[in-house]
Amino acid sequence: MCLKLIFVEIQIFMTENDFIPSSYLSAIQEGEVTYKSPSNIALVKYWGKRENQIPANPSISFTLNACATTTTVSFEKKKISSAEFSFDLWFEGNQKESFKPKINVFLGRIEKYLPFLKDFHFIINTSNSFPHSSGIASSASGMSALALCFMEIERKLNPEMTDSFFNKKASFLARLGSGSACRSIEGNLVQWGQHEDTEGSSDLYGIKYPYQVHDIFKNYHDTILLVDKGQKQVSSTVGHDLMHQHLFAKNRFAQAHENLSKLKIIFSEGNLASFIEIVESEALTLHAMMMTSLPYFMLMKPNTLKIINEIWAFRAASETQICFTLDAGANVHVLYPENEKEKVYPFIKEKLVPLCENGSHITDRIGFGAQKIGYLSDT
Ligand code: PMV
Repeated sequence: MCLKLIFVEIQIFMTENDFIPSSYLSAIQEGEVTYKSPSNIALVKYWGKRENQIPANPSISFTLNACATTTTVSFEKKKISSAEFSFDLWFEGNQKESFKPKINVFLGRIEKYLPFLKDFHFIINTSNSFPHSSGIASSASGMSALALCFMEIERKLNPEMTDSFFNKKASFLARLGSGSACRSIEGNLVQWGQHEDTEGSSDLYGIKYPYQVHDIFKNYHDTILLVDKGQKQVSSTVGHDLMHQHLFAKNRFAQAHENLSKLKIIFSEGNLASFIEIVESEALTLHAMMMTSLPYFMLMKPNTLKIINEIWAFRAASETQICFTLDAGANVHVLYPENEKEKVYPFIKEKLVPLCENGSHITDRIGFGAQKIGYLSDT
């Protein structure tokens, strides 16, 4: 009984050191692994971080289904050992030198936790289900897919690894690539960041939401409206950084904690009016933080505001539970329950799609996390 309790405690509260392997049980020479990992959309937003991608406040997201990155990592033991990372990078069928520095930084951050990285040459082959330059960030799906491939290699080196450890460490590593990527490992609702009312929550990795979720949230739809496909003027990295000296930061971080506590009841009862209030307020607060940073900036475009107003007018007139959220850009995520799709989708097509750049939109819905597509190895 006592032993069991200790084991559960270790599983729940992992520290950074728990992710450093002491030794490996097996040896491998070469192989190939493929993972498909989804994007996610935050309901309570992560905006502001401390060193090592530690979030300034907890966040929660719906895992998506259609928007995903598929990554294959082929690996071969180096003939001669070297102190450098060795990899080739292919993106959608072409070698992509310009992506390599970012991956090199990522490898440098995770090497301590995956000490085999310098023993192999890797060929990383990656592609997205959504068009490049669509304004959809690929860092969450991309970094999580890559982290999962490396974890699969580590699992070959340490076959006794549990699934629970595998998922936590994959999330932990993905976080070091891009914060929100740590919410893309498991579905369908993932929380990241230490929160007083959520058992097992951690700043180090995302966890599958551990409480009851009402059936109304099953199969929830997210139609993503691509309002502006251009490059953002201000990156998320700069935006997070501006929260350090932000006048409203303290209140904003406290608000995120409160919203997560409120969502616990809302998720269990399925109260969509309260859900909408929190989700839309979170989206607007995120952008309000941008507009009140110093220097201030704005990522919404005129059509972002037009879409929001159309959604509000339609919701009032149709008595549906349609709502919106925003990520760090001009695009709008339109959220609605499965049982309203016949009413809501025609409205989206008629009124909102014409406000998108070239009518571009993606019909997505809540998904169930990353999938292993394959593993091939001779030794
Ligand atoms: O993971 P990053 O550093 O790209 O930050 C993502 C921030 C938001 O998308 C705006 C919010 C979130 O929680 O995903």
